[in-house]
Amino acid sequence: MRHKKISASAFIFAVLTAAIFCRAQSASTHLPAPMDWSAEQDHRNLMEQLGIKTLRPGADGMNPHAANYQNTDEAKANPYPDLPDPLTMKNREKVTTPEMWWQQRRPEIVEDFDHEVYGRVPKNVPKVTWEVTGIIRTNNGAVPVVTKHLVGHVDNSSYPPISVNIQLTLTTPANATGPVPVMLEFGFDFSRFFRGTNRFGGTNAFRGFGAFGGGLNWQQLVLSNGWGYAVIVPTSYQADNGAGLTKGIIGLCNRGQPRMPDDWGALRAWAWGASRALDYFETDPAVDAKQVGIEGLSRYGKATLVTMAYDPRFAIALVGSSGKGGAALFRRNFGEQVENLTGTGEYHWMAGNFLKYGGPLTPGDLPVDSHELIALCAPRPVFISYGAMSGHPGAEGTWVDQHGSFMAAIAAGPVYQLLGKKDLGVPGNYLTAPMPPINTALTNGDLAWRQHDGGHTDAPNWPAFLEWADRYIHGPLPVLRPLSQTQ
Ligand code: GCU
Repeated sequence: MRHKKISASAFIFAVLTAAIFCRAQSASTHLPAPMDWSAEQDHRNLMEQLGIKTLRPGADGMNPHAANYQNTDEAKANPYPDLPDPLTMKNREKVTTPEMWWQQRRPEIVEDFDHEVYGRVPKNVPKVTWEVTGIIRTNNGAVPVVTKHLVGHVDNSSYPPISVNIQLTLTTPANATGPVPVMLEFGFDFSRFFRGTNRFGGTNAFRGFGAFGGGLNWQQLVLSNGWGYAVIVPTSYQADNGAGLTKGIIGLCNRGQPRMPDDWGALRAWAWGASRALDYFETDPAVDAKQVGIEGLSRYGKATLVTMAYDPRFAIALVGSSGKGGAALFRRNFGEQVENLTGTGEYHWMAGNFLKYGGPLTPGDLPVDSHELIALCAPRPVFISYGAMSGHPGAEGTWVDQHGSFMAAIAAGPVYQLLGKKDLGVPGNYLTAPMPPINTALTNGDLAWRQHDGGHTDAPNWPAFLEWADRYIHGPLPVLRPLSQTQ
């Protein structure tokens, strides 16, 4: 008995010593947990880093009686009518050759977007390893398809407290006669809509599943072209809020600490994920990785344009209702403003440095504007899509600034022309060119434009997009053609 008693107290002593030892050990070798700030705390920290005392408030998009209700008066919409010239170097030299564009001017513009607007992708972003977690053979409409469920595991050995896994699905026609072109969509996480937080009243929530026009949804339209489609879930690797900036892929690279002012924001992070998906497509024999397009709506329309601008491997883009931070000119005051983007609800999309343009600087101080983001996509084809501003039941409204995006597309034109491509082809310049009527596609050029007569969705523009895209993207021979005709 006595012997047992001694060993019990010895055991307790040993456990206590071990616990104390482990605590001391963990203090020196274990990594701290990621910061757990609210968006407001993180936003304030960035303001402090930048020495910003106050930011101007953004516009109110909802209440017409509010003092700061969005401007919808075109006469007041251009407080900074002069845009930075994409074809004039910082040293004022004119860009006259494609070589000057590629070697000198384009890098200048990229640097400005990196430093001031969307932030830089860090050099140390860890590798992604793709795993096929499931393969499902099914039919989508009349077409037999193969859907692969994929997870992109990000190597987190540098900071194990954060794990990041990219969700992706890839669907290709089961009977394809060769590798197929693929449209990659930034997909909404539908679970948040089921919780009833869709501010658009459901117009875009189920668009991926809903039929329209001729009765086919976008996936079925794409399949009927002989292409495949893929959906990446951006929020699986970077949250759509400021509190998430010390987590996800941005947090992993910063070991759970807050961003520096030129670190990447969520748009750039989402675009990074799309590029990793394309890395995977390059390894999948079902996909023709030279013919992968990118598409998204609203905040994912912004991410679409950022992806296309930064990764030259994407062949074509459908930019849906991207608004401020996407195709709409920052310098415009119509609908959403730069000051909305610099507020606590949206600043996480951008680099920290972008806050400066919501106070003390102004949008007119930005070294670049969205026409230059579009120009970074040149010479590759870009289709800019919107709904109607007004005058149609369920119209999209003014928040997204359709006209400011049209102006940006026109002002990107000279770069397309310099590279031997066709611009939008409208008469006049970005300040004077009239917008085409609703439901009229401008698709003669390598920059294309269409406003449908509906709301905040790009679904009704898919047919026009695909008709235009057919000039650039070619699937393998259709399987339904009798063998005799293909020989
Ligand atoms: C808000 C925001 C827009 C954004 C949109 C979206 O309206 O102000 O910039 O595009 O949400 O749902 O993505």
